[in-house]
Amino acid sequence: MKILVTGGTGYIGSHTLVDLMDNGFEVISVDNQSNSDIGVLENIRLIAGKSVKNYSIDLCDKEKTRIIFEENKIDGIIHFAAFKSVNDSVSMPLEYYHNNLNSLLNVLSLMNEYKVNNFIFSSSCSVYGNTQELPVTEMTPTQEAECPYARTKQIGEKIVEEFILANPWFKSILLRYFNPAGAHESCLMGESPINKAANLVPVITETGIGKRDAMTVFGTDYDTRDGSCIRDYIHVMDLANAHTKALQYLINNILDKAEIINLGIGEGVSVLEAIKAFETTSGQKLNYSIGPRREGDVVAVYANKQKAESLLGWKPTRTIDDIMRTAWAWEKKRSSQKRNKYHIN
Ligand code: WQD
Repeated sequence: MKILVTGGTGYIGSHTLVDLMDNGFEVISVDNQSNSDIGVLENIRLIAGKSVKNYSIDLCDKEKTRIIFEENKIDGIIHFAAFKSVNDSVSMPLEYYHNNLNSLLNVLSLMNEYKVNNFIFSSSCSVYGNTQELPVTEMTPTQEAECPYARTKQIGEKIVEEFILANPWFKSILLRYFNPAGAHESCLMGESPINKAANLVPVITETGIGKRDAMTVFGTDYDTRDGSCIRDYIHVMDLANAHTKALQYLINNILDKAEIINLGIGEGVSVLEAIKAFETTSGQKLNYSIGPRREGDVVAVYANKQKAESLLGWKPTRTIDDIMRTAWAWEKKRSSQKRNKYHIN
């Protein structure tokens, strides 16, 4: 089976390419490196023992994207390619709607033309908004999106669902990620933000390595066990394996609608607990201060993972300690390679 992974040189995409190859799939990638480094292809080859062909094409260019469908008989597509920064989406909404929606529309319309019927869509727990219902199940109603990024995921899900209603031969699983983090056990790849990291775990490791003098905990006056926000951090390798299992399920089953599946480990970890986990696994104190709340943050969100376990036979095996251990090893490796060329203030 030949699988096209869009966003294949990105963080989750690259880890998923490796997991798919480890499970016998033939893979190709399309990624224009808008937020990734083409060098990751070499690391994928070192880990998986096989090279991956990447088409450096912008999916918003339908006629260029068509080349991939002309040159390959594609059996399924895992669609990661999208802009994903919450903050950037607030300051650049048009770019987010244009990029995230036009790329999706082009992929779906070419799948329709070339009759490719297996589609996995990368969605996000942010479609739930500020829900009070915890743990979050796939039946939890979605709330008003907190930002344009989250709304592109809500609209994307609707586009896929309505495409299926009009084309029953088409099958899709919508995967709602909680908080992906950590790096590959081989330390050959991990989160490599081109822009300044905003997510908690890379901010922690950048602070630990000295790229930042200190980090700020955005509020400890929330109604949680230690006052800081709670999230469901899922190791990127567990997340990658969930995509392989979802693809296997999709290929082997008839679906009468888009199947929505949460991907989290089913446990909440607070910001202060995450910092503690870093300090314990790295053996060093982290320089942080307590600051004001961040606009748009939800107090707590974590998944009910039963559907992914029962439907896909998927079991997350890694903890916040594994996330911090691998993320820290990757940060040290990455920084030594760059010899601390830059310092983030
Ligand atoms: C986690 C917690 C911050 C940085 C976002 C997207 C979501 C998904 C994951 C794609 C929050 C706190 C953070 C810092 C801090 N992305 N924090 N100091 O906002 O939960 O989720 O990324 O699917 O869609 O919304 O992740 O890592 O930014 O924040 O205190 O310097 O860490 O306040 O409580 P978030 P995050």
